[in-house]
Amino acid sequence: MPPKVGDVFAMAGEQVLTAARIAWPGAEVVAGPVTPSVTSYVQQLDVDGRRLYAKLSVCGVSLVSVLRGECGDLPTVRARQAAYLVSPGSLMAREAAQLRTLAGPAALATVPLAAYTRGVLFTAPVPGRTLAELMTAEPGRTRELLALVVRDVADGLAREGVAAAVDTGQIRERGIADTFARKFNGLSGLLYLRETGYGALLDVVVIRLRKARRTPSLPGGGGVIFGDLKPEHATFPVDGGRPVYLDPGLMRGHPVADTAKLASRTVLGLLGSPPEGDTARTVLSGLDSFVRAMARRLPAAERDAWLRKLVLLLLMDTTNILTTYLTAPADLPLSAHAAGVRDHAHTVAQFLDRATAPLPSDADGPSLWRLYLTCVRKAVNP
Ligand SMILES: Nc1ncnc2c1ncn2[C@@H]1O[C@H](COP(=O)(O)OP(=O)(O)O)[C@@H](O)[C@H]1O
Ligand SMILES: [Mg+2]
Repeated sequence: MPPKVGDVFAMAGEQVLTAARIAWPGAEVVAGPVTPSVTSYVQQLDVDGRRLYAKLSVCGVSLVSVLRGECGDLPTVRARQAAYLVSPGSLMAREAAQLRTLAGPAALATVPLAAYTRGVLFTAPVPGRTLAELMTAEPGRTRELLALVVRDVADGLAREGVAAAVDTGQIRERGIADTFARKFNGLSGLLYLRETGYGALLDVVVIRLRKARRTPSLPGGGGVIFGDLKPEHATFPVDGGRPVYLDPGLMRGHPVADTAKLASRTVLGLLGSPPEGDTARTVLSGLDSFVRAMARRLPAAERDAWLRKLVLLLLMDTTNILTTYLTAPADLPLSAHAAGVRDHAHTVAQFLDRATAPLPSDADGPSLWRLYLTCVRKAVNP
């Protein structure tokens, strides 16, 4: 039997408190609220009155996978987790190292690492507004904000010493194409789609994406990318300083994947939590002009393939995360973003069906991007 949410949370909460007591012996540790996530166990806590975020991975896979029974029943999860917490290559050990790389050789602003102890990552909060919140509050700045984040990250990750550090412990778990392959390869992928409740629409989406991914790789893909560049993972501090990043998934890859994730999650935010008035329209024209400007900067010969790849990865990422939200157990607390997407699942699935339809055609990159945006606009404003 798959483990229950309450039991997994109780185990993880205990492990967070144990790690905090080891990291700060004698300190007063008070557990705070759990931050909803489908991936990790994230909990706020006070250590001698100082507020921190604690983050823990259960067995190295997403919480949804654990709760679906992929790591066995509760006693098996407990046993595997005990070993995982102290394994040197665990996800949180690599994330701690990556935060040091970002703050060190990459010279980017990151959430301050307070401690890494027994599989638990402790970071200090950064006050400010996330890129997601800022685009909704000031939609006219969408192009400028997206460009700033993409440039800032690319500049940082290209600095000397970053690639060598990342090679000692990449986080490939968040890669779009890797995640898609993990979820949808073979028969188990099709069975999994049945469980979303939208199998009829999503079967064809996945088949089209699987065919379309057999394209030659783009030039310029050997560098380091952020890997999980979502609009929730960049915070703009209240004092107007540089964006501060969290939840890195640094890996070798092509930077188009970072742009794809940023765009995919921006659009999902609009579909799942439709903003008032003209906001969605303004955000989408900002996104459009941001993408066109990125494409214009490439050599003409690369533009077409870059846009094709962007659209393919965008649609894969949207499919990856929609299906995760739809297969999460009903009692797993979801973030407002995730709950919004799940509440609008029919709209998103229908959008994916329409937006993947042109993939098998020989449409060029610019046309695919235009068709993609047309489908987004239709879904946002039916
Ligand atoms: N140091 C921090 N400061 C502010 N918010 C944080 C911090 N750490 C985590 N969070 C919040 O918790 C959420 C989940 O944490 P995250 O590191 O993204 O884990 P996950 O792997 O589950 O996505 C983040 O999107 C953010 O809202
Ligand atoms: Mg995250």
